[in-house]
Amino acid sequence: MTGKKDLTRRNFFSYVFMGSSLLAGLSLLTYYMMQYLFPSANKKPTRKVYITTTDKIASGKSFKFKDLKGGNITVTNTGKEFIALSTKCTHLGCQVFWKKDAKVFYCPCHEGYFSPKGEVMKGPPPKPLDSYKVEVIDKAIYIHIDEVFRDRA
Ligand code: FES
Repeated sequence: MTGKKDLTRRNFFSYVFMGSSLLAGLSLLTYYMMQYLFPSANKKPTRKVYITTTDKIASGKSFKFKDLKGGNITVTNTGKEFIALSTKCTHLGCQVFWKKDAKVFYCPCHEGYFSPKGEVMKGPPPKPLDSYKVEVIDKAIYIHIDEVFRDRA
């Protein structure tokens, strides 16, 4: 009789453990399925900001300005398209600058090189420069930058 009672208690705890593990697994699966099915819920809100007109950035040239957080962004005319990139190096955060002759972004801190599209070409940077969506509407250049929310006091 005692053995059967112990067995029942053991079974009970084992079912509780299995049930909670199954519940945790299903919750995790549901979370990832929602992330997959509704990816827009993950996106940060952005703001479309007017930058300049296409005739102000000649082919091979770039145009610099500050985003809503004070970070530097450069819009480059590659001759085929306009590309907006952060000028903050992805290694340790130094400012990169456009080398017109070599047509690369160069970080002087540790000799980092990025392609015109911001991809790492050489040096220690671990990932490409942050990029922003560019839209050209009737010769006006807009980019989509992260929205900045301020506390309302
Ligand atoms: S900070 Fe740019 S290469 Fe190190």
